Amino acid sequence: MSDSENGIGGAGLTGRTAFVAGGASGIGLAVAHALAARGATVTIGGRNVAAGEAAAAAFGGRFTPLDVLRPESVQRAVAAAATGGRLDIAVNCAGVVETGAAESMSDESWSRVMETNVTGVFNACRAEAVLMLEVGAGAIVNVASMSARIVNRPQNISAYNASKAAVVQLTRSMAAEWGPRGLRVNSVSPGYTATPMTAKGRGQTEQAGAWLAHIPLGRFAEPHEIAGPVAFLVSDDASYVVGHDLVIDGGYTTI
Ligand code: NAI
Repeated sequence: MSDSENGIGGAGLTGRTAFVAGGASGIGLAVAHALAARGATVTIGGRNVAAGEAAAAAFGGRFTPLDVLRPESVQRAVAAAATGGRLDIAVNCAGVVETGAAESMSDESWSRVMETNVTGVFNACRAEAVLMLEVGAGAIVNVASMSARIVNRPQNISAYNASKAAVVQLTRSMAAEWGPRGLRVNSVSPGYTATPMTAKGRGQTEQAGAWLAHIPLGRFAEPHEIAGPVAFLVSDDASYVVGHDLVIDGGYTTI
């Protein structure tokens, strides 16, 4: 058998249909670009139609309205992203953070973070898996965070940290359930990345300095540096990678 038949030499994504939930900005948008550049047909889902359509046009993809909090919206978006009812790849990026002391956190803040980051990922995976399990193939990547493993300082983001730990364990649970039926589920755990979510903190000298002090590379990640590893995980190059949490943090969690 030749190297190319064996998959040696690098797997592209030509002919694959992909959905990126929360793909109109930041890491999700970089993932959409990376998947499209490797040949996939990519649909991004988000809440802002005008911004989403403009973002999709920039990489030759499609946009579909999506609110991960609403299961019926998720189902509609996943169906819209599929080609002839088939979905090969899904990357779930939608997420929010709330900063504040745990003892004074409002019910609304707690719920918003847990509902979006945990229930939203579950809603998305469930709808995506229904299509993938029908054909016995597919790859899902959930965007967790290094906050699943460490407690960020100096900001207080207890709900966020708990939500991301849940994403990692949810991913492993689904990987165990669906692996035997041909569906690979993995997560990535980025460190501080230059996106709208971290713009305020990166702009504050003291906070940015505290973050950078823990990063051996001495800088924040660019979104494409998260997207490349995600593209690897959904490709056939990662055909034996299941239930893994790939930490992409410039070394933050190793020191
Ligand atoms: P971002 O704010 O640009 O992206 C988050 C996206 O989720 C936005 O497009 C937002 O509109 C969307 N979203 C939020 N709630 C939604 C809902 N109910 N329905 C549909 N879409 C919704 O920020 P970023 O950094 O690109 O975040 C992407 C993911 O990466 C998030 O899950 C975040 O927690 C995670 N992450 C980010 C890190 C960073 O340093 N920027 C580090 C580790 C993880």
